[in-house]
Amino acid sequence: MTHLLHIDSSPRGDQSHSRRLTREFVEQWKRLHPSDIVTYRDIGHNPVPHIDEPWIAAAFTPPEQHTSELQEAIRLSNQLVDEFLAADVYVMGVPMYNFSVPSVFKAYIDQLVRIGRTVAFEPDDAAHVYKPLVLGKKMFVIEARGDSGFESGGRYEKMNHHDPSLIAVFEFIGVTDITFIHVEKSEYGEEKLTESIAHAQTQIAQLVSTHSQEAEGQ
Ligand SMILES: Cc1cc2nc3c(=O)[nH]c(=O)nc-3n(C[C@H](O)[C@H](O)[C@H](O)COP(=O)(O)O)c2cc1C
Repeated sequence: MTHLLHIDSSPRGDQSHSRRLTREFVEQWKRLHPSDIVTYRDIGHNPVPHIDEPWIAAAFTPPEQHTSELQEAIRLSNQLVDEFLAADVYVMGVPMYNFSVPSVFKAYIDQLVRIGRTVAFEPDDAAHVYKPLVLGKKMFVIEARGDSGFESGGRYEKMNHHDPSLIAVFEFIGVTDITFIHVEKSEYGEEKLTESIAHAQTQIAQLVSTHSQEAEGQ
């Protein structure tokens, strides 16, 4: 049985393309594998807080030395990390905002990347100071963007701080199997957007069919 963690980060509701497609992804997966588990977190409508000074103090103090204040400061982060570690497959809806991810998604990442929980720090091992701890997972990122040309060789390639930043940080904690599904050109009118959505839907149908079977076989 596979456990999916479904995250939406668009602040929009029914108008959101990333939300619609993450929902379609998860619904198709569940249709093929009804007994698989899905955990849903909507950080677009219920944002996680930015980390603050008590959070940093708690994250860098051994848990056995935590005061009740430090325990409280790191409580939500512990819950988010537990939830992340419990899942096998991540389905993330992440729009492009100003060439990067929405700030709420960055806040979520800052809550997740934790020494001793998602990455180990081993200063004596010069070759591998940081050792990823989140292994054997798959991630699907459904990214909505208004324009196009952010791919390799595209006119905005150098301005794309979305896909590369997610690859860097999730690989840092061990999630190396990451697939992007892009829905784009919403700023170019209905026809181009419809084409892009149809392309994303075809990609989703293929990915769900292949990866849900693979996950079942493991
Ligand atoms: C604040 C803001 C910043 C945006 N920045 C970009 C951008 O840098 N590049 C781009 O192609 N589209 C940009 N867009 C367009 C969104 O990526 C697009 O509307 C996308 O569909 C939003 O995701 P959603 O439909 O899931 O809400 C921006 C939209 C907003 C509201």
